[in-house]
Amino acid sequence: MYKQKIQNRIVFRLLSFISLSLVFTVIIVGAYVSSSGQGLSCPDWPLCPNGFNFPPAAEYFTEYVHRAIAVITAISVYGTTAYSVRKFAAARMAALIGSILLSLQIFIGLLVVYSELQPFVVAIHTGVGVISFAMILLVFILSYRDLSDHIVSSKDFSDEGK
Ligand code: HEM
Repeated sequence: MYKQKIQNRIVFRLLSFISLSLVFTVIIVGAYVSSSGQGLSCPDWPLCPNGFNFPPAAEYFTEYVHRAIAVITAISVYGTTAYSVRKFAAARMAALIGSILLSLQIFIGLLVVYSELQPFVVAIHTGVGVISFAMILLVFILSYRDLSDHIVSSKDFSDEGK
């Protein structure tokens, strides 16, 4: 039983670390897309003009990478969430919120493209990206949480010293 819990924790920590690294990567690639002025290189959503076929034409490359990593990130975060719901309840709520934020972020990506980079929409896209990172970081930190079944109640404190 205890060995199983330790195993679940290790798997969960690995999954959440992969998700965290992916969210970080998609943010950095997004910043590159933005600062190199390639934000409108793919005018469609969700796919670049040649779909998700690899390799993309050179002019779509960075934007394509941003979207492709966003999809892989979403799959990873949903997987992490599913695992926490089934096997690591300590991080369940944070993982669910992370999944919702990430889904919202992909939808905001649509608004970024269709609004033709309206500064307000891009600012929200950046902000939700940062909050998503914070939430997945919290999920990763929670993978270190003490798993003991002992629940500390106020009664435990009032009983102290008896
Ligand atoms: C995991 C999901 C995503 C995250 C965390 C994310 C994060 C970011 C970040 C941090 C930027 C840089 C913004 C800036 O520095 O001004 C960015 C740029 C951008 N993102 Fe995303 N993004 C995600 C998904 C998407 C998706 C699915 C799309 C569209 C299909 C998209 C479209 C764009 C575009 C067009 C830009 C460039 C904006 C500009 O040129 O100012 N993003 N993204």
